[in-house]
Amino acid sequence: MNPYQPVPAELVEIIEESPTITTYRLSPEKPIPFATGQFVELCVPGVGEAPFTPSSSPLVKEEMEISIMHVGEVTNHLKEKTQVGDVLGVRGPYGEGYPLEEFKGKDVYIAGGGVGLAPLRSLIYALLADIDSYKNVRVKFGARNPEAIIYKDEVEKWLKGDELELQLTVDSAEDYPDWDGEEGVVTTIMEDPDADIESGVSVVCGPPIMMKFATLKLLDMGYDPDQIYLSMEKNMSCGVGKCGHCGIGPYYVCKHGPVMTYDKLEDYDEVFD
Ligand SMILES: Cc1cc2nc3c(=O)[nH]c(=O)nc-3n(C[C@H](O)[C@H](O)[C@H](O)COP(=O)(O)OP(=O)(O)OC[C@H]3O[C@@H](n4cnc5c(N)ncnc54)[C@H](O)[C@@H]3O)c2cc1C
Ligand code: FES
Repeated sequence: MNPYQPVPAELVEIIEESPTITTYRLSPEKPIPFATGQFVELCVPGVGEAPFTPSSSPLVKEEMEISIMHVGEVTNHLKEKTQVGDVLGVRGPYGEGYPLEEFKGKDVYIAGGGVGLAPLRSLIYALLADIDSYKNVRVKFGARNPEAIIYKDEVEKWLKGDELELQLTVDSAEDYPDWDGEEGVVTTIMEDPDADIESGVSVVCGPPIMMKFATLKLLDMGYDPDQIYLSMEKNMSCGVGKCGHCGIGPYYVCKHGPVMTYDKLEDYDEVFD
């Protein structure tokens, strides 16, 4: 099959998650099976394409959700010009996702921020589907302010449930007098003396600055670089390891990632650019 050939996918729902992030629910002409953490190229006819990690469960085959922060040409076009019923294109999935088999039996420690929650929501759905296989799942979510928290319904459900331990924080709640939760960047809630670090794994996904400080915090907590799974983002073009756009040292993020352990990346200055 031609790896550049997108599958037509009808836009069936648009969900405003926050002032800057929208979730698009797509119904592809044929199922696009993916492993959680892999990415797809979303093609917007006449505009261009961009890589995104599905935010939906990998167990749901007939539909796919993609949560998008509006930052440039393709993503702003989606916000301003697309509507339910439009047909977009999806090619992929590409790259390496989260190695769930390796996570089994372990304490899984997840830190995310901003639109980084998109791949993490997919990961959480996958973990919850088989929750007894994992020793413990802890999730630390950070958002800029209360309004910027995405997936509010799921977050509320996860907070109420007892399958995983979720903690939320916002950088600042200055203009939100009703907020009675934690305040501070996500690293301030990464304090878990009872986490099983020695035989655990950690996962980080978010904006580069958050990824950098969360990784430093995990190292400080005692995780080894090969226990820290980063979901990498680099400018991409082909998505299939041919054009060289997404290089970090000897690796192509589209092919060797986007999920990569920190031990592979720690020697390269551009890792958190
Ligand atoms: C593997 C992978 C998975 C990704 N998954 C997601 C996802 O699930 N959800 C999501 O929203 N994004 C995700 N991204 C980022 C997304 O691909 C870019 O935001 C998108 O390509 C921007 O396209 P554009 O045409 O709108 O912007 P462009 O017109 O290409 O860029 C416009 C401007 O925005 C800046 N810019 C580009 N990306 C970002 C960014 N992420 N944050 C801030 N500024 C930026 C550029 O530097 C440029 O100045 C992912 C990226 C990769 C590589
Ligand atoms: S995007 Fe072309 S090599 Fe990765």
